[in-house]
Amino acid sequence: MSQFFSNCSVDALATAAQSLRAGALVAFPTETVYGLGADATNEQAVARIYEVKGRPADHPLIVHIADLKYLKQWIFDIPEYAIALAREFWPGPMTLILQRSNLAKDFITGGQNTVGIRIPDNSLALGLLLAFHKLGGAGIAAPSANRFGQVSPTSAEAVREELGSYLSEIDLVLDGGQSAVGVESTIIDCTGEYPRILRPGAITIQMIKGSTGSKVINYMESESDNLREVATRVSGSLENHYAPKAKVILDKPPFAGSGYIAYEFMETPQGVVRLAAPNSVEEFARVLYSALREGDRLSIEYIFVSQPIGEGLAIAIRDRLSRSSKGRDLNPD
Ligand code: TXA
Ligand code: MG
Repeated sequence: MSQFFSNCSVDALATAAQSLRAGALVAFPTETVYGLGADATNEQAVARIYEVKGRPADHPLIVHIADLKYLKQWIFDIPEYAIALAREFWPGPMTLILQRSNLAKDFITGGQNTVGIRIPDNSLALGLLLAFHKLGGAGIAAPSANRFGQVSPTSAEAVREELGSYLSEIDLVLDGGQSAVGVESTIIDCTGEYPRILRPGAITIQMIKGSTGSKVINYMESESDNLREVATRVSGSLENHYAPKAKVILDKPPFAGSGYIAYEFMETPQGVVRLAAPNSVEEFARVLYSALREGDRLSIEYIFVSQPIGEGLAIAIRDRLSRSSKGRDLNPD
């Protein structure tokens, strides 16, 4: 069983950074979801991420850094539009896919010539990263801290539930409370002429257009499912068909005994277990994964969701929900 740090002082972060440098895993909060971190240059430590998650080894990992000055060593080239995005939205819920340097080994990129990089916007994550860089660390590889095929954790408690029995006593879990955003980062492929969204998130297509002044390729909008399938296969998020424990049903009236997630103004029919009643799209994203977990905890068989309509963050919410309702998990990675 790993150690659990709930009061993360500067000392605790320094200890955690040392553990990472020594090859341990450290689960830590980010503004999107909790990550399961390892030293991104340590092949054995990274191998343990795959082991603990039960994730196939060819799925690439995102490298987290504290500051733009640590970006250069990881990448070979960066287009102008990606520089604009990095300047505007980092630290923040955005991952850029860029041509990799020699530092980004196959065990990080899954053998691809690209690497995913992100500066998270969470004080604990940034504190950990800074302490880690201070010890000579180049970056922390971190997927979401769930077992492969499960819902991403948005609290330290959820990380414990997910991974507690797979972590060892050298590993740590840092508790930074509830993740502020609640859905995973927007992933933008920056290897082509235009930015291309591989996974929608809180950094929206409108924000990307506004920041770059460029055309943006959005797989959600593509004329056929074809591009969407290709895009998400690359990002490794659709190829698996792990069904969530509860069956997720979208935009239908819930029946007695089922769970229900919907905006606050929607009424709860009699006998239905209300799992969440957010009153904004931001709150919807923030509580979605914990509400689904709660449904599973209560052994509810069917969870009905009235989806948020509109653009922006609602697109990311519908993206995750649409996969789960097709018997695919919200976020297999
Ligand atoms: O918000 C987030 O991004 C969270 C926090 C912890 O940072 N991390 C996260 O990681 O969601 P993960 O591994 O659960 O999902 C990352 C997705 C995977 O589908 C992976 O295949 C894709 O990013 N990815 C990573 N590197 C890639 C690359 N070089 N090319 C294409 N897709 C990549
Ligand atoms: Mg994941």
